[in-house]
Amino acid sequence: MNIAVAIDGPVGAGKSSIARQAAKKIDFIYVDTGAMYRGIGLYTVRKGVATRDAEAVIALLPEIKLDIKIVEGAQRVFLNGEDVSEDIRLPEISMAASDVSAIPEVRAFLLDLQRGFAKTNNVIMDGRDIGTVILPDAQVKIYLTADAEVRAKRRYDELIAKGKDVKYEDVLADLNQRDYNDMNREIAPLRAADDAVIADTTELDFEQSCELIVEIIKEKAGI
Ligand code: DC
Repeated sequence: MNIAVAIDGPVGAGKSSIARQAAKKIDFIYVDTGAMYRGIGLYTVRKGVATRDAEAVIALLPEIKLDIKIVEGAQRVFLNGEDVSEDIRLPEISMAASDVSAIPEVRAFLLDLQRGFAKTNNVIMDGRDIGTVILPDAQVKIYLTADAEVRAKRRYDELIAKGKDVKYEDVLADLNQRDYNDMNREIAPLRAADDAVIADTTELDFEQSCELIVEIIKEKAGI
């Protein structure tokens, strides 16, 4: 039987970088579900459609074909055949992704794609509802978090390193807004599954966080 590791948590907890590194260490496939919502957010923005206009976003879904491919060990996202792996990371697409993710039809649209990976692979999948909705039977569930100020500082440092002109206060406000949206929506809100291990990385650096996650996985999955 395949092993599934579900990692959920708020914005900037380091889910994707930690999950990617942990997956390499234990030779699992890493699946970033946020990238899928970002793909739909990007398409909506490109079409000039308001991301909170549920009816208009739903009308776009039949035009969208999302493919997730693993190229040289890294996940790439293709939107109607175009590799949008970089474009979906633009800061303005983060909020668009959060907006469209509150629409039940959008979540239903991505469900099979997400579950499909876990049927045929050992996966580490990260997102907001992986342990609660997508893979409720996952052998390992982790809720990865850290204090909001620490998460915002890490995100701010990343953006500055990429040459972006941003203010720490704006990064923190954006992060809090997006967490609020993701935790308070009606469908599949972000929360720790009852059987999730809470991993708080406030006091840990990247390597320590990876070690902690790999330790939890090995212990819970018995590998
Ligand atoms: O993990 P991320 O920042 O790339 O995710 C972008 C947005 O997508 C996030 O704000 C909420 C949404 N999302 C979701 O609702 N469910 C998931 N499983 C993953 C992401």
